[in-house]
Amino acid sequence: MAKDGKQNLERAAIETLAVHAGEGADPTTRPHNLPIYQTATLSFETADEKEAAVDGALAWEPNRYFYTRTNNPTTAALEEKLAALEGAESAIASASGMSAISAGLLAHLKSGDHLIVADDLFIISQILFAEDFPSRGIDVTPVEITNLEAVKAAIRPNTKIIFAEVLSNPWMRISDVPALARIAHDAKALLVIDNTFLSSVTIRPLEHGADLVLQTTTKWISGHGDALGGIAAGSKALVDPIRRQTDLLGGAASPFNSWLIARGARTLPLRVERATANATKLATFLEGHEKVEWVRHPSLASHPDRAVADRILGGKWGGMLSFKPRAAAGVDPLDAMRAVADNIALFGVGVSLGEVDTLIYPMPKRGGIFRISVGIEDADDIIREFDHALAHVK
Ligand SMILES: Cc1ncc(COP(=O)(O)O)c(C=O)c1O
Repeated sequence: MAKDGKQNLERAAIETLAVHAGEGADPTTRPHNLPIYQTATLSFETADEKEAAVDGALAWEPNRYFYTRTNNPTTAALEEKLAALEGAESAIASASGMSAISAGLLAHLKSGDHLIVADDLFIISQILFAEDFPSRGIDVTPVEITNLEAVKAAIRPNTKIIFAEVLSNPWMRISDVPALARIAHDAKALLVIDNTFLSSVTIRPLEHGADLVLQTTTKWISGHGDALGGIAAGSKALVDPIRRQTDLLGGAASPFNSWLIARGARTLPLRVERATANATKLATFLEGHEKVEWVRHPSLASHPDRAVADRILGGKWGGMLSFKPRAAAGVDPLDAMRAVADNIALFGVGVSLGEVDTLIYPMPKRGGIFRISVGIEDADDIIREFDHALAHVK
């Protein structure tokens, strides 16, 4: 009897899914590691075989391939792994987080529809909703997503989707996913979640009532900052239209990027666990530091959404935090920010997040605050680096 490891995965924990789901994609040569199918097209022996592959692939049947814009075996293996991590029936990987978000929403919205979005989304999502969607006849209302009464008040008869991030950037506000799902479903709308900042190790939005997860794989999922990618996950009925939209817009994932992201995803639970432990220690250290005005991390009792965090994050707080250095009276807060950023030597100053190394993102346009993506280094080394940099704040 053939061994069926896939059956055993049905009961598996996320650590096991990260390693084993989607692996063993080539039953012919049986490589132990996922191969990179670095090919634009696939070829066939007969006209009928080619036609069956094209028709099957475009009907979104599994294991049907004819051209990499539509699908590819390496990308399909990544999709199986990520669907398992999200607890989803289906997933489509694409070229970037923004391709997942734009194709994912456009597949389920048309001219005349109304979309409610959180008012503090990732900046490129904000621009998409403020400038691009309205020009396509889609009405967009930004709301304060932690104010559930404001969300309810924004619902209209033509509201089709509510879109939010679980953890907002850079204020670290936490969306009450189950409550938003109830509001969306009462209005016969979908709740669509971007969980980029936390990942499925911390919360699986689909298990809390969300209908779709649209997010980047560039960050925590890949974990090494060497590939761009996006993922849309949910039921097959909701994901198939996104496959079609991604194909039409040409947003296919490159096979090599899919391979890099699948390799990174195997260690996602380990990395997030370590980054969470480090971020929790760093947040506590910063909160007690005289040169720090405030800190936001879901682990802290001072977090404004701590009750929601307790209910939906289950004690897994994630590796993202933000803080503001305390400038002395008369000192420009931006100079305090520069003093910290310019004296951090071990860590990079830059955008992006979710990599193995700690990355610091100073935000002069937000009054001189920092967003920190905490890495997997030793916690004491991380704390020492911040302590040293904070000593330069006047
Ligand atoms: C919350 C969030 N969503 C989506 C994206 C877009 O991802 P990508 O850069 O892969 O397009 C980002 C990128 O930083 C992000 O922070």
